[in-house]
Amino acid sequence: METLRIMSVFGTRPEAIKMAPLVKELAAREGVASICCVTAQHREMLDSVLAVFDVKPDWDLDIMTPRQTLSTITSKCLMGMDEAVDALKPHMILVHGDTSTTFAGALSAFYHQIPVGHVEAGLRTYDKYSPYPEEMNRKLVTAIADLYFCPTRSNRENLRREGVTEGVFVTGNTVIDALKTTVREGYTFSTPELNRLPYGSKKVLLVTCHRRENYGQPMEDIMSALAEIARSHDGVELVYPVHLSPVVQECAKRHLGGIGNVHLIPPLAADEMHNLMARCYLVLTDSGGLQEEAPALGKPVLVLRRETERPEAVTAGTAKLAGVDREAIVRMAGELITDPAAYRAMAHAVNPYGDGLACRRIADAILWHFGRGECPEDFSA
Ligand code: UD1
Ligand code: UDP
Repeated sequence: METLRIMSVFGTRPEAIKMAPLVKELAAREGVASICCVTAQHREMLDSVLAVFDVKPDWDLDIMTPRQTLSTITSKCLMGMDEAVDALKPHMILVHGDTSTTFAGALSAFYHQIPVGHVEAGLRTYDKYSPYPEEMNRKLVTAIADLYFCPTRSNRENLRREGVTEGVFVTGNTVIDALKTTVREGYTFSTPELNRLPYGSKKVLLVTCHRRENYGQPMEDIMSALAEIARSHDGVELVYPVHLSPVVQECAKRHLGGIGNVHLIPPLAADEMHNLMARCYLVLTDSGGLQEEAPALGKPVLVLRRETERPEAVTAGTAKLAGVDREAIVRMAGELITDPAAYRAMAHAVNPYGDGLACRRIADAILWHFGRGECPEDFSA
């Protein structure tokens, strides 16, 4: 039987964290060559993940430039993919989620008439510009893809409403697979500052913020709210690993630099981040990945966005949409810091996004698609 060449294409930090376990799962399957092509839409933040999960790319487009635009990312990925596809001749291309790499990877596969598997399919806000450009990227990829790996049933339901019913699997989110390999009891941080944090005596708030639709006034208001939260509560330590985007760096330093109980630190390696989340008190974030990870670790999340394509944790009561209004963020964080009952109501572990077996289901589904093996059963939360 011919070896199946399955090529995973990714380029940003979250895609890498969520695709690394799948690259490895495929590599462990008989009759499969697991090929890894990175666009390096992110450079340092991608390389950090590759090192943590010990994934060595077969191809690297190395496209990142400072302050890159959506057009340059997309066109450089598309151009670069031609050579990679011609050289590696995949039978199927896997893309993940909703980045510009995802869209360009899927479009390139289509241009080469290669089937596409979309990992983390079916997420929607139904707002074209929020998240921007992610909502449009994932809709465009839905139109191109052949196999759809939905994390949850409600993601599958979104696709069904759009008339997509063939080749759809509910697998759970691969981020939970990743989390199961990184979070450990008694973990010692390689970042000394994180070992010294007073986890027992103070409330450690973990913050991230990077979304493009928040650039400008929303991000100003978010950062200003964070400064107010840190200044008005002595008992908190705010830890913020700042995304390398120069727009975010500048805004974060201007609002939060020099405040005694704020730790502005460089992006953390994924294992450091996951273990910090496991020990923190509360998460404030506009990140997609953090919204999925924190509930699994029993940490309440305030989502610094107007909407979310991940309503499952909100429904489960462990996440709340705080929006981007300064006063609302200050008020909602204040309540969770000072009111133990309000905190307890949100701080319970739930796993609506996965059970750690998503990669196994995805690999099974791919093999089944090629007539090799059984169709996997759906993940149900
Ligand atoms: C991208 C994705 C977004 C995802 C986010 C995860 C798009 C359009 N956006 O947004 O969906 O949520 O990644 O973090 O695909 N930079 C570095 N080094 C790095 C990474 C970034 O210096 O390792 C800087 C560069 O100046 C780069 C800028 O950050 O130009 C922005 O990176 P980019 O990938 O364009 O956008 P993100 O906001 O990271
Ligand atoms: N993350 C990390 N180090 C950091 C910040 C985030 O490893 O300093 C991880 C986080 O745990 C999650 C992923 O990166 O797995 C989320 O990436 P990001 O917030 O950049 O993108 P999004 O999920 O919003 O697309």
